[in-house]
Amino acid sequence: MDVAIIGCGYVGLVTGTCLAAIGHTVKGVEKDPRKLKSLQDGHCPIFEPGLQELLNENYASGQIQFTGNVKDAVRDAEVVFLCVGTPPKPDGTVDMSYLEGAGKEVCDALAELKSEYLVTIIVKSTVPAGTNRKLYNFLREQTKAYVQVVSNPEFLKEGTAVQDCLNPDRIVVGGESPEAFRMMRRLYDPLIKREENFLTMNWESAELTKYAANSMLAARISFMNEMTILCEHYGADIEDLRKGMGSDTRIGPAFLRAGCGYGGSCFPKDVAAMEHISKAAGYTNLFVDAIQTVNSNQKRRFAEKIVQKLGRPIEGATIAVWGLAFKADTDDIRESAAIDVIRYLLDKGAIVRAHDYKGMEHMKALFKDEVEWCGDPVTAAAGADAVAITTDWPQYTTLPFRKIAATMNTPLIFDGRNCLHRDVMRENGFQYYPMGRPPVENKLRLKQKV
Ligand code: UGA
Repeated sequence: MDVAIIGCGYVGLVTGTCLAAIGHTVKGVEKDPRKLKSLQDGHCPIFEPGLQELLNENYASGQIQFTGNVKDAVRDAEVVFLCVGTPPKPDGTVDMSYLEGAGKEVCDALAELKSEYLVTIIVKSTVPAGTNRKLYNFLREQTKAYVQVVSNPEFLKEGTAVQDCLNPDRIVVGGESPEAFRMMRRLYDPLIKREENFLTMNWESAELTKYAANSMLAARISFMNEMTILCEHYGADIEDLRKGMGSDTRIGPAFLRAGCGYGGSCFPKDVAAMEHISKAAGYTNLFVDAIQTVNSNQKRRFAEKIVQKLGRPIEGATIAVWGLAFKADTDDIRESAAIDVIRYLLDKGAIVRAHDYKGMEHMKALFKDEVEWCGDPVTAAAGADAVAITTDWPQYTTLPFRKIAATMNTPLIFDGRNCLHRDVMRENGFQYYPMGRPPVENKLRLKQKV
């Protein structure tokens, strides 16, 4: 099918490239001249594993092309994705101006082209219930183009977006036009393994499904994070709880990893949006309130633990923070736990040395010279009074810990992601404090040091 993508940001580019990879002819529209030039030169402007390679392949074959002109892009299009921003306004409602602007531009172009066939406009953005219906009514009033609007929320995870896009658990399509549903079914045909994974519903249900899914995932994490307090108090191990609970098929094992709090551009925003959506419906959503409170408490609890267990005053202590991105395999630092932890440590007078495999440049823009930036984790730890891990980069698990212990001022690690092996910590003489797991105290080693 001929597909147009309006907006080649994260979602637009991943979606467009994957649709090109399954055989559609894709035209991506990018209005930012710098980004457009970069795309036309074949460069992927974001870091996402596998995306550049897939883009190279499909750009070279002409399966995906980029333009700054909406009219060129929609000329033959049967479906048009609107992948523009839907930022929240200060009052918590969504700013519809980009969506309406892009939708109107598409319809005007179609009207000018005197297009006679139905074009399905697809909204991928996470938007409050009622937004797609409003957009449809707005477009119907504004133009003569023959269009339908469907909501098609995306469920991509940063770091595995290409895989998620090519192997979706389900495809949710909200709308009220059977013809548009049929078009969507055709569009996604190569990705639909079982018919029941293609779900059609009304606009509001699709919109709320996205918020509900993200809130449920965030709730699972917050629930486990809350359980770390009990585990630490009673000497239980959150990893054993996770396995014990997750093997119940009714619960399942995913998204039960405890840590120093979730971050990213989605969970914090979507859970907060649920709160506003609930308020707009006239009630206070106690559940989402608890998810958020537990999350911010957990970030703080991790930072406080560092201060309590450091064994020396935090003021003037050197703490190496390993991991700045909100999770591994991304350079995205939005709402990352590391931001709260670093801010807390700096406010207490600590000297912070930081390392990350991808997110360092973004974090530099935030903390500038308040933090010492280190090119590798071993250098960051050398001479430090403690290491604090805030991102679960797998590379951290295979570092030369004996060497690290020898070069640190005190061999002490706070593992906010429970990613290191306790045995490795014990054998290498570390004091080790994970989240919700029994610590490794190694008192003997410390006595020897004194
Ligand atoms: C999330 C959802 O997982 C996607 O399905 C959704 O499409 C996306 O938001 C979105 O709305 O666009 P993402 O934010 O990219 O994806 O990343 P996740 O892998 O979900 O991780 C979010 C945060 O939760 C990270 O900080 C991660 O460290 C944390 N997390 C995740 C845990 O603390 N424990 C877990 O068990 C899983």
